[in-house]
Amino acid sequence: MEPPLRSEAVFPRMLELRRAIHQQPELAFEEVETARLIMAELDRLAIPYDYGGKGHGVVGRLEAGKFGPTIALRADMDALPGTETTGLPFASKVPGKVHACGHDAHVAMLLGAAALLKADPPPGRVLFVFQPAEERGGGARVVLASGLLDGADAIFGSHVTHHYRTGEIMLGEGVITAQSDRFEIRVTGKGGHGARPHEAIDAVVIAGLLITALQTLVSRQINPVHPTVVTIGRVQAGTAANVIAEEALLEGTIRSTWAPCREQVHQGLQRIARGIAELHGARIEVSLSEGYPPVINTARETRIAGQAARAVVGEAGVVPMDYPSLGSEDFAYYLERIPGCYVRLGARSGEQYIPLHSPAFDIDEAVLKVGAAWFEAVAREAVRELGRPRSTS
Ligand code: NI
Repeated sequence: MEPPLRSEAVFPRMLELRRAIHQQPELAFEEVETARLIMAELDRLAIPYDYGGKGHGVVGRLEAGKFGPTIALRADMDALPGTETTGLPFASKVPGKVHACGHDAHVAMLLGAAALLKADPPPGRVLFVFQPAEERGGGARVVLASGLLDGADAIFGSHVTHHYRTGEIMLGEGVITAQSDRFEIRVTGKGGHGARPHEAIDAVVIAGLLITALQTLVSRQINPVHPTVVTIGRVQAGTAANVIAEEALLEGTIRSTWAPCREQVHQGLQRIARGIAELHGARIEVSLSEGYPPVINTARETRIAGQAARAVVGEAGVVPMDYPSLGSEDFAYYLERIPGCYVRLGARSGEQYIPLHSPAFDIDEAVLKVGAAWFEAVAREAVRELGRPRSTS
């Protein structure tokens, strides 16, 4: 990371912004103060913007070329429920809310990039997208529905992570996160006395069979070259030790990276539920709800993101992705409509690894410089590459 990054100049301001946001976390679709702070900074930079009010995003516009391409850069604004345990002097002042996913840093680094690009605008349009509700509810769809990204030629986003050190940028082409779906399985048997099982239909035993049987979906039915997960995260049943439960509820998540496997899991879940219901004379209802689609980075934009990454952290800092994460990310919605690339920014200085969403999560703040420099570089690189006359072959 030497020579010093151009973003060094805006680092003190990014620190102030990140810490201010960190202290005042707001949950999905409630990001009013965060939006206010972003708009104040855009005003200070004399960058015009649109804001649709609570529950919407702020989209800043830098227009320097009438005919150049339009490049969107995206940050997310929302925090998570939880109680911060970092002990930082600028820890959350809002009980029950914490910036444990680094979105405070994403906002600060995009504002840093906005300052750098404003000082010397590339010959095109750059949209600074501050979206609500990445953690739940898919705020990306709200931004897309606003029409403010219509006509965008490419979109880029990033996320901090402790998986890599500060100064490392991880990127890959194609599928990089999973499709996520939720399921709920409700078992209805027949309650009864704990001593007289023959008079009852035990929902707890049936739930146990379901839990075991569902493990075979991935291990025995899905082609192992396609990463897939079925996790049951919540089980609820029964009222007392000597009462046979009439009802049981199982809740879980499915992660898949290929649509046919996803379909296979959905059908398998229904089939196993039907089979076990039949076997035990119980009623089993399955409900599935769709989560975020997979993030699929497009080839040309991944190449552009890589060029920008090399310009910022050098060849040695660019980490190729060798397998997709089974996490999910609503950046996927943009990529269904606009070509683009989503990268991960290493944000760990020492050896200590703290996962995202942990109430102890914190970043090495030097990542703000890397993120701002990468956003700036990728916007310039994309304006140049996409502004070239297309070959007619
Ligand atoms: Ni996040």
